[in-house]
Amino acid sequence: MKRVAQVLAFIMAVAMAIPAVAKGETKMSIFGKTADGVPVPIYTLTSGQIEVRVMAYGAHLVSVKAPDRTGKLADVVLGYDSLQGYLADNKTYLGGIVGRYGNRIAGGKFTIDGKTYQIPLNDGPNALHGGPKGFNQYVWQSKEIPDGVEFTLVSPDGDMGFPGALTSTVRYTLKGSSLRIDYTATTDKATVLNLTNHAYFNLHGDDQGNILDQKMEIAADRFTPVDKTLIPTSELAPVAGTPLDFTKPEVIGARIGADNQQLKIAGGYDHNWVLNGKIGTLHLAAIVTDPVSGRKLTVETTEPGVQFYSGNFLDGSFTGRHGVKYEKHSGLCLETQHFPDSPNHPDFPSTLLRPGETMHSTTTLTFGVVK
Ligand code: BGC
Repeated sequence: MKRVAQVLAFIMAVAMAIPAVAKGETKMSIFGKTADGVPVPIYTLTSGQIEVRVMAYGAHLVSVKAPDRTGKLADVVLGYDSLQGYLADNKTYLGGIVGRYGNRIAGGKFTIDGKTYQIPLNDGPNALHGGPKGFNQYVWQSKEIPDGVEFTLVSPDGDMGFPGALTSTVRYTLKGSSLRIDYTATTDKATVLNLTNHAYFNLHGDDQGNILDQKMEIAADRFTPVDKTLIPTSELAPVAGTPLDFTKPEVIGARIGADNQQLKIAGGYDHNWVLNGKIGTLHLAAIVTDPVSGRKLTVETTEPGVQFYSGNFLDGSFTGRHGVKYEKHSGLCLETQHFPDSPNHPDFPSTLLRPGETMHSTTTLTFGVVK
């Protein structure tokens, strides 16, 4: 009898020592204040399986704690300890919502109904992620909703040169081991937009080296090749026979240094894959697995493309949580999106939004484990 009691006590002690994630709750606190003194709410979403933090500044995904195959939690999204870290970083877009137009617009220029618009350039000859002050740099309105948080931003007519007052909402909701991101937008004048999340994932954990030994699978037979300034050439090229073929799981680092013009231009992977699924219905974008921890991330989306960016431009100049310098390939992004520079490629799926229409898109991030 005594023996049974001892065993039970031991099991209880072990169970209590494992850092369990609390069940189905959303908690708000203040992460910090902007330079203008605006308080920034941060929300912790828990589901029993994973814990997610999102904040009102840039509607950032700040952290995702997910279990490995033994149940041990690690943060698998790169991020900063404090709001100051995010305010000081105008380069990496770590976990932010990028907009009004995620990825590049050639020359920062596009034409709608015969009128040409110019976005200020912030990436050599091009505009990147909406220009010098993108949606990742604003404090969004926020409110709790069932299972999560809704963020809203009104970008005025002419903001960064874009026409039309655009109202965007981003909803993060957590159920079980799946984080869902819903985007909606409406405008009062015809405009273009491409909203996505720019989280960097590292399934080893945010302070555990780089992503090169993790495996990637992308549900795409084609990609959009780019010129030397990373603007699509308009071609949809087959991935077959190239190091961009991830139709079967492949170790990311295995071919990243291959003698391939596209990889050389980008210093690694930084391309838009043309997803095989149907636009507007949830389909597979990518699956990342970490053979070391067993963690697995499945990304599904209603978007036509995904930008797999292997963190090529991280160069140690920003220090994240746990005092870790983010070096090349410390994390990878899977930016579900319309194709880069779509406003200048009439054959690409359209990014035009007119008054009276609502843009709606959904991406889900599901965390699991492999043996
Ligand atoms: C782009 C990269 C860019 C990075 C900035 C990515 O979405 O594809 O080319 O350097 O964002 O963090």
